Amino acid sequence: MAFTFPDDFELGVASAATQIEGGDTANSWYDWYATGHIPDGSDPSVATRHYELYEEDARLMESMGIRHYRMGLEWARLEPEEGVFNEEVFTHYRDEIQLLQSMGIEILLTLHHFTTPLWFEKLGSFENPKSVEIFLSFVKKVIEELGDLVSQYITINEPNVYVSHGWFLGAWPPGKKSMKAAFRVMTTLCVCHIRAYTLIHDMRRCNGYDDTMVSYAHHMRSFVPLKRYNPIHLIMTPLFHRIFQSSISRSFLTGASSWPIGRMKGIRKGLYCDFHAVNYYSRTAVSGLSDGTLPHVPVNDLGWEIYPEGIVKNTQELFRLANLPIYITENGTCDNEDSFRNRYISEHLKMLCESGLPVKRYYHWCFTDNFEWLEGVSARFGLVAVDYATQKRIIKKSGEFYIRMIAEKGISE
Ligand code: NOJ
Repeated sequence: MAFTFPDDFELGVASAATQIEGGDTANSWYDWYATGHIPDGSDPSVATRHYELYEEDARLMESMGIRHYRMGLEWARLEPEEGVFNEEVFTHYRDEIQLLQSMGIEILLTLHHFTTPLWFEKLGSFENPKSVEIFLSFVKKVIEELGDLVSQYITINEPNVYVSHGWFLGAWPPGKKSMKAAFRVMTTLCVCHIRAYTLIHDMRRCNGYDDTMVSYAHHMRSFVPLKRYNPIHLIMTPLFHRIFQSSISRSFLTGASSWPIGRMKGIRKGLYCDFHAVNYYSRTAVSGLSDGTLPHVPVNDLGWEIYPEGIVKNTQELFRLANLPIYITENGTCDNEDSFRNRYISEHLKMLCESGLPVKRYYHWCFTDNFEWLEGVSARFGLVAVDYATQKRIIKKSGEFYIRMIAEKGISE
């Protein structure tokens, strides 16, 4: 399978703070672990110890020729108490970003990726009407501290997954099963994104920067009905598609929320994304209330269908809504033996490159193996293997393949 990347298309890798850093016990996922919710017993306060080993990881990334990195911040570390920021942690992230940049690696920075400080959870998380202001004060501080270094941001990662798992299915913190709460939180995240988008642009503009790019990472999945359409998707998909994408309708926002109209102050109908950020992995067959796969389809080690066509279909759907550059901010697969990852990557990339869509970046998930939420460290998504007993990193066959693709700007065989 041979193909060449378009001229302005570049490969990178992605990660998220909680999934790699270790060393923090004051966040919602550590609490979820400590209360017995991770079946394989993986401890997110260990993960790949990237917080200590970031220089080694950066050198490895550099040596692989990787020049684009989507990384995340751990809010709980940066703001251990409400309104109290830890300057040492800001210095740590500043050092890490500067080191990567000195290696020619461009940063896309995620502000929220599924985890929150424990104190924020105790205040009711994003159900609390004050959560918007609390989140914005965190964003403001990040831009004050790091805004001179970074021009590209993801405000919130996969709000649809975060809300459906945390507030509707009850599988993730805070473990709620309430449609009403799910709607409320979705609305709140919408407001958080819009206000953060505006704040980041305004603050950086005031400091003379005109290269700001902000989006949120949209989890997109293909669906196919097995028997009946799943009511969860009937509700969550339109909710997400109508309100939390490129153009926001103020009236829908207001209608979906029982909050005072004042909360929507300053929000105007408009485009609140500078690029489409697409996370794509799989297709799901839905039947009644359950999710599954069609019979006889290829699946990965978590049973997720491998369906490369979906990456283009889903991206096209977004692109039709707004003509914006496209970043695939995540794509990858759980392949514990690293036996089909190369094929997975090349099939998805070929689809993208031949689609004619203006795709500018592809960030592979993930750079190294990491803590995969409920599946813990048992599910391996990395281009680089982590031996959790020794924390040794070893480039996998797929990592070597990725190195070649970066160097050759495509695949020659
Ligand atoms: C998307 C999420 O953003 C990431 O945190 C997760 O590890 C991958 N999907 C794989 O499930």
